[in-house]
Amino acid sequence: MNIEHDITIALTKGRILKETLPLLARVGIEPCEDLSVSRRLIVATTVPRLNLVILRGSDVPTYVQYGSADLGIAGKDILLESGGAGIYEPLDLGIARCRLMTAGPQATHAEVELKRRVRVATKFVNVARAHYAKKGLHADLIKLYGSMELAPLMGLADEIVDIVDTGKTLAENDMAPRELIADISSRLIVNKAAMRTRHGSVRAIIDALKHAVTQQGPA
Ligand code: PRP
Repeated sequence: MNIEHDITIALTKGRILKETLPLLARVGIEPCEDLSVSRRLIVATTVPRLNLVILRGSDVPTYVQYGSADLGIAGKDILLESGGAGIYEPLDLGIARCRLMTAGPQATHAEVELKRRVRVATKFVNVARAHYAKKGLHADLIKLYGSMELAPLMGLADEIVDIVDTGKTLAENDMAPRELIADISSRLIVNKAAMRTRHGSVRAIIDALKHAVTQQGPA
C-alpha cells in the first residue's frame, strides 16, 4: 500500500482490537510492535507514514471528528451515541457484531410495560433518550460507565440499555433482553476534511479494507 501523506488510524482497544488486527493484516497494515506488551501510545506500522493510536471506544469518534486521527474504527453503538458530526462512515467492517438492546429482570417486565415513566441505567444516554421518546415513554436516565446489569439488581433502575453479545451476562443475573434498538458491528470512519485534503491516501485505505471485507467476508 502506498501512502503519500502522514496518516493516523484510531483503533478501539479490547474485543474490537482483537478482530481489527487480523483485518488490517490482510491489507498489509501491521503494527511494528506487539500491542499486548507495548505501552507506546502512537504505534508505527509496516506501511511507511501510517500510524495507529489505540483508544477507548468512546474517544475514537472524538479524535476523528477533530481531525487528530484521519480514520478510525469504532462500534456502531459508540457512533450512534456520539452523533457522528464531522465524520463519514464509508464501510461496515462486519466485525464485533452484537446488539444494542433494552434489558431488565424477567420478573418486572410486565410492570415496566404499564409505566409511563421508566428509570433507565446506561452509558448510551442519547440513544436511550431517543428510543424511549419514540415509544412515548418518559425515561429518567442514569449514566453509568460499566456493569450496567447491576443497576436493576440493586434497585437503581427498572431497565438498562446495553450491548448484548452472547446474552450470558444477562442470563447469569436473572435478566432478559427486551427490545432491539440496533444491530451493531464495527465501522470504518473518516474525518470529512481528511477525505478531501488527503484523498489519495485515505481512499487507498478505504478501498483496500472494502476489498478485504467483501472478498473474504469479515475477519
Ligand atoms: C459488554 C456489555 C455487557 C456484556 C455483554 O460489556 O456491556 O456487559 O459485554 O456480553 P454477553 O452478552 O456476551 O454476556 P464489556 O465486557 O464489553 O464491558 P463494559 O461493561 O466495560 O462495557
